[in-house]
Amino acid sequence: MASKVKTVGVLTSGGDAPGMNAAIRAVVREALSNGCSVKGIKRGYSGLLDEEIFDMDAHSVSDIISRGGTILQTARCPEFVQSEYQEKAAKICKAHGIDGLVVIGGDGSFKGAQKIAEHGINVIGLPGTIDLDIACTEYTIGFDTAVNTAMDAIDKVRDTSTSHERCSIVEVMGRGAGYIALWCGIANGAEDVLLPERYNFDEQELVNHIISARKHGKKHHIIINAEGIGHSTSMAKRIEAATGIETRATILGHMQRGGSPTCKDRVYASTMGAMASDLLAEGKTNRVVGYDHGEFIDFDIDEALSMSKSLDEYQVKICRSLGNAY
Ligand code: ADP
Ligand code: F6P
Repeated sequence: MASKVKTVGVLTSGGDAPGMNAAIRAVVREALSNGCSVKGIKRGYSGLLDEEIFDMDAHSVSDIISRGGTILQTARCPEFVQSEYQEKAAKICKAHGIDGLVVIGGDGSFKGAQKIAEHGINVIGLPGTIDLDIACTEYTIGFDTAVNTAMDAIDKVRDTSTSHERCSIVEVMGRGAGYIALWCGIANGAEDVLLPERYNFDEQELVNHIISARKHGKKHHIIINAEGIGHSTSMAKRIEAATGIETRATILGHMQRGGSPTCKDRVYASTMGAMASDLLAEGKTNRVVGYDHGEFIDFDIDEALSMSKSLDEYQVKICRSLGNAY
């Protein structure tokens, strides 16, 4: 069946995430195999408005599946919330013959994509963020790599923390979402995990827990703190003063956004990228690809953006209970 769109454009927007390159590669190669032309758009919506648009062929995406970051670069474009820029973006797409657009990013990027779709461009969103905070999907491109990077780093901090019998606060990414913190809490066997969705800012409770765990023979005390709570360095000073136990803070920061994607991120991002091109070929628009109950599926963007998501209660509970050895 002939593709319903002739030229597919692809861009990455918002924070980068490992696996975005695998998704770009899949979008490009699947679109080409569907008989479409492909254009890359640099620097997200900023680059689209600046017409940073170039032709892509199968070789444009050679040697990128194993690389972190995004070969298209990414950007935040605050003015894109204004309708005049959304209309301009759609006009630019039309001028370049782009009748299908794949936007790889988070919820913010999908809001922009929705607006471009309203102006007559067929648009498909792919969930790309290390934060796992997109409601319509159990999987987001980059989370698996980021959480494994954080887990490895926390294992290393734990070694030295045990040797010195210290308390360690490790700050992981996640401004509004505690998924990396929660998963590391379970995977690293942390004694405490501070989640932006839950933390009550009761530092005395934390101090009491550290003292009690020490009395029960714990040689270290790992506190995973999500970026959304932050202030790890000053928190470490206060905890050291209150407990008398040497306390250090480690902020993992942007290392969590980089690195070679895991097998899961490569395979899932490739599947989602190919699906985006296939949905465009079928003439679909205003859709987001997600992963739910073992299946890759697509949702209407409006529906996807109206969904909400919360941390798994049982995992929050066991994270705490399994970290206590008494
Ligand atoms: P993410 O896509 O990871 O959620 P942001 O929230 O930073 O990241 O959004 C990325 C970009 O998407 C923004 O810089 C802006 O260009 C665009 N965007 C965000 N919100 C909107 C909106 N309400 N309407 C249109 N475009 C938006
Ligand atoms: O959304 C991904 C994320 O890494 C968040 O966890 C973090 O709060 C934010 O991006 C940081 O973004 P920036 O690139 O502006 O430092």
